Amino acid sequence: MRSRLTGTGSAFPFNVLTNQDIEKMVDTTDEWITTRTGIKERRIASSDDFTSTLATTAALKALEMSGVSPAELDMIIVATVTPDFPFPSTACLVQNNLKAENAAAFDVSAACSGFIYALSIVDSFIRSGKVKKALVIGAEILTRIVDWTDRNSCLLFGDGAGAVLIEADSSPGILDSFIKSDGSCWELLYQPGPGNRNPASHKLIDERLNFIRMQGNEVFKLAVRAMEDAALKTLSAGGFTTDDIDLFVPHQANRRIIEAIGKRLGLPDEKVFVNLDRYGNTSSASIPIALDEANRTGAIKTGDLVLLDAFGGGLTCGAMSIRWQL
Ligand code: ACO
Repeated sequence: MRSRLTGTGSAFPFNVLTNQDIEKMVDTTDEWITTRTGIKERRIASSDDFTSTLATTAALKALEMSGVSPAELDMIIVATVTPDFPFPSTACLVQNNLKAENAAAFDVSAACSGFIYALSIVDSFIRSGKVKKALVIGAEILTRIVDWTDRNSCLLFGDGAGAVLIEADSSPGILDSFIKSDGSCWELLYQPGPGNRNPASHKLIDERLNFIRMQGNEVFKLAVRAMEDAALKTLSAGGFTTDDIDLFVPHQANRRIIEAIGKRLGLPDEKVFVNLDRYGNTSSASIPIALDEANRTGAIKTGDLVLLDAFGGGLTCGAMSIRWQL
């Protein structure tokens, strides 16, 4: 048995934060943000949005497209670094919202690569015959862990969720995948607390340890190299070259990162999907959000070879080749 994608969905908070809004918060300009990142605006969760509620809305849209009912699901994985609670998992909250009582539900923490990690886990379960129908969701509310006084990082991130429905099928949708981590660079991008090392305390708040810390320039360089490597390894596993790619769907972190990888892979702009101008970096949600948009707008067509490619905190990276069958 192989994995076939049969539905996609996405969900966003209502509120939009533009670069002009950020100009009023930190010492920056719309021009700097646009030329350095490609981002123009991002969605911001309100106090009654949670990662689980965005994830549930995206999941319902993917279920509706596929025609699968929640009771048929064997597995739900939510990729996130911004769960509702440390435990239970956000996936269990989604399971409860959907009334998917027959599913195993758990979260995966692999930062911006989380969706590809989660999808490759489901693919393995489907190939083993133990899972027939599964939901994989990437969902984040990053704007609650962003330091809104740090101009180096606050403009990058946004909130949202994307979901895909996977079903066992005799013809393959997911062809090959590659995932890899390098824990030696964990300090380049992380959230110091709350956790064992920095438990919830006044000190945590006073020292702003609850917010994302990032060495953007270093992350940028490593991202380009690792994403190129992951993409080429995944393609060669299937006997493909970059010429075979119909649509490249990279993690939406920074337009310059995407352009650098596209250039290294020799891809024309029209084969590279970009929507970060409207959503910023939504970490594990960025690829499923992009997939849903590409699917619903016709940017992906039946039979296309789609290559997913991601990089994120950990450090983690991953790529996946998919023959689109929707
Ligand atoms: N407005 C104006 N000036 C700024 C701002 C700002 N918001 N932020 C930094 N600057 C200044 C810096 O102080 C620096 O000034 P200096 O030369 O006088 O010292 C100058 O701009 C250049 O700073 P750099 O950090 O070198 O700028 P860079 O071109 O690397 O862009 C950025 C910074 C956008 C963070 C980029 O490095 C990046 O996107 N990195 C990837 C980080 C990322 O995406 N992380 C998310 C998770 S990982 C992932 O998803 C891939």
